[in-house]
Amino acid sequence: MPSDLFVGLIGQKFMGRAHSNAWGQANRFFDLPRRVVLQAACGRDGDELGGFAARFGWKTWTTRWEDLASDPKLDLVDVATPNHLHLAPALAALEAGKHVACEKPLAGTLSEARQLRDAAKRAKRSKTFVWFNYRRCPAVALARQLVAEGRLGAIRHVRATYLQSWGTPDAPLTWRFQKKLAGSGAHGDLNAHVVDLARFLTGDEIHEVHGAVARTFVMERGIPGTDKPGKSDVDDALLFLASFKGGALASFEASRVATGHLNANAIELNGEHGALRFEFESMNELLFHDQTLGPRTAGWRRIVATSAAGGHPYARNWWPDAHLLGYEHGFTNMAADVVRAIEGQEPVVPLPDFADAFETQRVLEAALVSAKERIAVRLSEIR
Ligand SMILES: NC(=O)c1ccc[n+]([C@@H]2O[C@H](COP(=O)([O-])OP(=O)(O)OC[C@H]3O[C@@H](n4cnc5c(N)ncnc54)[C@H](O)[C@@H]3O)[C@@H](O)[C@H]2O)c1
Repeated sequence: MPSDLFVGLIGQKFMGRAHSNAWGQANRFFDLPRRVVLQAACGRDGDELGGFAARFGWKTWTTRWEDLASDPKLDLVDVATPNHLHLAPALAALEAGKHVACEKPLAGTLSEARQLRDAAKRAKRSKTFVWFNYRRCPAVALARQLVAEGRLGAIRHVRATYLQSWGTPDAPLTWRFQKKLAGSGAHGDLNAHVVDLARFLTGDEIHEVHGAVARTFVMERGIPGTDKPGKSDVDDALLFLASFKGGALASFEASRVATGHLNANAIELNGEHGALRFEFESMNELLFHDQTLGPRTAGWRRIVATSAAGGHPYARNWWPDAHLLGYEHGFTNMAADVVRAIEGQEPVVPLPDFADAFETQRVLEAALVSAKERIAVRLSEIR
């Protein structure tokens, strides 16, 4: 019988629900070395918290994250709060000797992300994780394996877009539109994911941001619960060009005002021997162009990455071939890999820790500086 892993969660809304489901499902679908116990949940809204805890199976709940972060019963603290509230709970949990899983971006600002990276380094007994969940869509994990096997050869281009359209003028002034709470807008929210994916898939690091442009299209939004407007001071869209140490050229595009797109998280890699493309809205599929087949038959193949017999990542833990997976499975796959990693076992594909997520944050910062100063920024300047 595996021993218990007591988990505490801070945040009860969007990610709170996604993570609760993942922790609750992990042992049902994976044979893991520990049994996850949903021990304690925390959120700001005391009226809703009891119902949330009961629905997802959390044993206890509190509105004070300080109590949860230091709760001696907990082995792991999961931080799923707005970006300004990653630093304090994650630091407190690390100081209390716990493992920490934190939502992305690691923090709203580079300085806070650096503090987290350094604290994680000091906390020798703790392991850290960042919820870059898209790594664990099986099609993305398969793409990484193919790149690592050399199926693309040297990568020439990375083309990444993360387009949404909910940032219309009537969207209220939530934390996501306030710099002091979010750090940045579409950039930190969406480019964080595709920069992580680009680094993860290529296994390479960005060396320079050549240029970036940011735009806030909607300057005022309604303050929730009032009829007053307030200032929206984050980017609604940010685009940038970059190059990798290995020579690949890359473009990144994040928007909350890309009319017609809902959650269009897509990345394409073009290499000397082939190309790969992933689009989250068809998340079970990986498009693969194998140039080595020659011009007669080379073309884009659509691989439905759900085959246990085909050795597709995570496939044997779920359903028969092409009985498709959804958004939540990426989180459950990650929860399972976190439990494995805590016990020193290998995750199916690499897990991002705070040091890894800090590297993504440096790229995000370089693009912010580039957009603000209208200059190229070498990553060596961003520490
Ligand atoms: N991995 C992903 O794909 C993904 C998707 C969405 C959001 N996120 C990230 O997850 C984090 C949370 O985003 P969300 O969409 O869940 O936000 P949300 O607004 O839906 O939920 C935020 C939660 O934080 C809680 N909270 C806020 N202040 C608190 C406090 N002082 N004490 C206790 N609880 C507090 C709120 O009660 C709420 O439950 C952000 O960092 C965001 O960038 C990641």
